[in-house]
Amino acid sequence: MIKLTPPMGWNSWNTFGSEIDEKLIMETADVMAESGLLECGYDYLVIDDCWSLRKRDENYKLVPDPEKFPHGMKYVADYVHSKGLKFGMYSCDGYKTCAGFPSSYQYEFIDAETFASWGVDYLKYDNCYKPVTVPGKLLYHKMGLALENCGRDIMFSACNWGVENVQEWIKETGAHLWRSTGDIHDNWESIKDLTHQQIALQPYNGLGCFNDMDMLVVGMNGKGNVGFGGCTYDEYRTHFALWCLLNSPLMIGCDIRIMTPETKAILMNKELIAINQDPAGRQPCMLMGSKDGPKEQTYVWYKHLEGGDLAIGLFNMSDNPSYPWVGFEQLGVDHTSGKDLKIRDVMNHRDLGIYHDMFSTGLEPHCCKVFRCTLVPADGNYNISFING
Ligand code: GAL
Repeated sequence: MIKLTPPMGWNSWNTFGSEIDEKLIMETADVMAESGLLECGYDYLVIDDCWSLRKRDENYKLVPDPEKFPHGMKYVADYVHSKGLKFGMYSCDGYKTCAGFPSSYQYEFIDAETFASWGVDYLKYDNCYKPVTVPGKLLYHKMGLALENCGRDIMFSACNWGVENVQEWIKETGAHLWRSTGDIHDNWESIKDLTHQQIALQPYNGLGCFNDMDMLVVGMNGKGNVGFGGCTYDEYRTHFALWCLLNSPLMIGCDIRIMTPETKAILMNKELIAINQDPAGRQPCMLMGSKDGPKEQTYVWYKHLEGGDLAIGLFNMSDNPSYPWVGFEQLGVDHTSGKDLKIRDVMNHRDLGIYHDMFSTGLEPHCCKVFRCTLVPADGNYNISFING
């Protein structure tokens, strides 16, 4: 059975591009298992593009590049599984992958069976060199069907970058997640862009098929295949919190063998991860912000969690301080409810006390706050409404 909450794991593309091999994958598996990442829920290790030879074999099967993967993929998958992890791979719906390797168009069923025979648990399915006359919907549908008939549970990660109105049809294809954006880059502009593009797409986000905002750039620090400039740690914190609150898959893209303490603290914030992995998987609701506004807005989203807590995220995407406020009436907790909110700061792991009717707070540029709020009986004891710190 494939889990319904957003997948979490690591993907080779952001840092390594075509520079991948067996040693890197096995070392990464070791670190995922031993660093605490697996314990936090990061359990899929995914090899992206550039893993195969440029030609299929005489039976039309894909062949792992023997220089990169001398023992073949089953060997790598077995090693990954031995660490308690799941194993993911990559293909594409066109004539070639984006990097020019053989792709699955008209080989969907053969490839799904090959992946299953190697022990693959996750397939990222890209959209390059797609035949122009065939609708993407049909191609994703075909691979979805091939995967469901291959004899193994394989999570289907659709990656058509948000084109062809994919949000309208992707759930029909059996995909468990769908790329709702173009490619991420390791800089603040890209974080702003991808977030802005998500506003209109939230109605399509939800349990079993989540909007994929692309792999994380946390901890890349400007290095690697998509490392165009890098972000500050404050920006990485905001990026991670946004991806958590907006139900995006959490696929790490940095070299986890050299994570700094700051990177580890961001990626292993279990309270934020719990909001991302909330079993109800409800889409977030926007309280402040607009798809027609600039990318440099302050956004406030909240999410109604299983069991009745609320997660509230406040994100300052601009270059100036901002002072947002949240009226509890907008959350459905007005005076008729007889409830106040007990608020916990999940970025800093601090209880802030009980608030009545509303709160306001200050946000530094590019920074965010995320609160987990529990409804409690209103008994007249509460804090003043400004949240410091
Ligand atoms: C892009 C995709 C990236 C990466 C790359 C590989 O189309 O969006 O995430 O997979 O192809 O060539």
